[in-house]
Amino acid sequence: MDIETSSAREVTPRAIEIVPTGKALGAEIRNVDLKRLDDATFAALLRAFHDHSVLLIRAQALSDQDLIAFSRRFGELDWAPVQESGRRFVEGLPEIYIVSNVKQNGEPIGSLGAGEAVWHTDMSYLEAPPIASALYALEIPPVGGNTSFSSMYAIHDTLAPDLKRRIAGLKIKHDGTYNSGGFLRQGVTPTDDPRTSPGAVHPLVCTHPDTGREMLYLGRRRNAYLVGLDLNESEALLDELWAYVDRAEFAWEHVWQVGDLVIWDNRCTMHRRDPFDDNSRRIMHRTQIKGTVRPV
Ligand code: OGA
Ligand code: MN
Repeated sequence: MDIETSSAREVTPRAIEIVPTGKALGAEIRNVDLKRLDDATFAALLRAFHDHSVLLIRAQALSDQDLIAFSRRFGELDWAPVQESGRRFVEGLPEIYIVSNVKQNGEPIGSLGAGEAVWHTDMSYLEAPPIASALYALEIPPVGGNTSFSSMYAIHDTLAPDLKRRIAGLKIKHDGTYNSGGFLRQGVTPTDDPRTSPGAVHPLVCTHPDTGREMLYLGRRRNAYLVGLDLNESEALLDELWAYVDRAEFAWEHVWQVGDLVIWDNRCTMHRRDPFDDNSRRIMHRTQIKGTVRPV
């Protein structure tokens, strides 16, 4: 037996394979077990995350603790938002947010139900919104519930020079009243006046702190407001910008399998989810990596 070859096999980890989706964003990472990530592999993964904005890693077997440990490699974690049921979080694991339509004793175990989740980015109503969210699939319906991602770099870069000039220096209110399923957040008074609704004000065009690239930062459409403009003007300009969001050339759609982990950059992407049959079950567990800086 060739000793040199066999020992080389033992000490050299298989290099990860990065397979871009061929769309505006997203790449699949192959040959990786997220429970055993050495520093060199994590560095390669982080580079791919900055290059592609969304990473898919299939065929994982993660407990909540594994999901938390992997997510922590990217930074401190935010506590999950209060579930729509009013429950604060999963018992003993405040970092885990459950996205699910499943009911236990008549009460949903998670958020967002089975309807559409409209385009949004997570928790941008915070002054320092999360860097990333990691979503792990435990149960998946036979059809529906696909999740699409769009590149806010690509959308920014495509805006006509005149439109870029008109939005330069504007600030946008990111609403904290409703979640992407249209459900009222816990402890918030319902309102549809974007000028007075709770939320955080961020620059409409931001520079990504890690990549240095410019991106459009829209957050979500409902109750968005361009600060200082007449409401009509704000609505018209927002509609003009939002017309870009649904265009297929800026997006990648993911069709889930059980064991998929998708981690997205929450600053330079938005996501939406298709509805699915409420008689089927869908259970996803999510973590969110805490933002450390305000968007600039
Ligand atoms: C989320 C989210 C969509 C989905 O977890 O932040 O929007 O596909 N999920 O479940
Ligand atoms: Mn979301």
